[in-house]
Amino acid sequence: MNHPLRKVVIPAAGLGTRFLPATKSVPKEMLPIVDQPTIGLIVDEALRAGATEVIVINGRGKTAIEDYFDRSYELEDTLLRKGKQELFEQVRKISDSVSVTSLRQKEPMGLGHAVLAARNAIGDQWFGVLLGDDLFDSEEPGIAQLARVAAKTGKAAVALMAVPDDQTHMYGVAAGVRLPDGNLAIAKLIEKPKQGTAPSNLAVIGRYLLPPDIFDILEQVKPGAGGEIQLTDALAVLAQQGRLLGVTLQGERHDAGDRLGYLQANIAYALKRPSLREGLLAFMRKVSQ
Ligand code: UTP
Repeated sequence: MNHPLRKVVIPAAGLGTRFLPATKSVPKEMLPIVDQPTIGLIVDEALRAGATEVIVINGRGKTAIEDYFDRSYELEDTLLRKGKQELFEQVRKISDSVSVTSLRQKEPMGLGHAVLAARNAIGDQWFGVLLGDDLFDSEEPGIAQLARVAAKTGKAAVALMAVPDDQTHMYGVAAGVRLPDGNLAIAKLIEKPKQGTAPSNLAVIGRYLLPPDIFDILEQVKPGAGGEIQLTDALAVLAQQGRLLGVTLQGERHDAGDRLGYLQANIAYALKRPSLREGLLAFMRKVSQ
């Protein structure tokens, strides 16, 4: 297997209906976690894991994402003239540190459809997928933990998280055989199972390490849950072939595409900043009395 993490895909073409009306004009992937957009933190994770090429799948009205990773001459010039060297360097680093290619998903027809849009850009290589609204905060980047498992076993790997039984209907849910190394040999994968029918409480979360033939499988996938082309349905084919592992990642996951998850992510990341921590804690004590 070639290095499985040279290229990563970040799907960010969804409608973000849970964040309306804000997402009428701002992509949810650009909503700030303290002062960085969610997608900026996700690109950081990919870079820390050794990725050299980031392919963002964009939809209509998402040029803000392209602009964020592009050079901003006027802003850089103004910051320099005003002597704001530190801010200048921060801003410049974003466009200097990574090659971001932006591709269009013409219609938001599902996550599987979004990943398929990256087919030509990926070619015949293993690649990572990081969902544009799913944050993973950990010492070893979440996607690197999956890449390690994929490189060792030659199998595709998805991130799993145990969720309460009453939440399984919101996720893709996996079941299979627990291996001696703690990973799950996934035998079955179901997208958004109806309440009470989930085969386990192990939910797939937004990190995947995939082989290039996933694109052939995706071409064949028919619209599933919600009338969308589901990535889960393509992964279920890998599972049937005995080629899919579930890995419980070490770290903290925040669903920044969900209102409560987004607020929690902001608090968690802010509390890690010494300049914000005490003020925020004092405020939270006051409002929770
Ligand atoms: P979500 O299901 O969380 O995104 O997809 P959504 O559909 O935008 O959200 P809501 O439910 O309407 O609020 C997870 C990730 O996959 C991308 C989204 O942008 C998000 O980052 N996605 C989803 C696509 O790129 N294309 C799609 O067709 C669907």
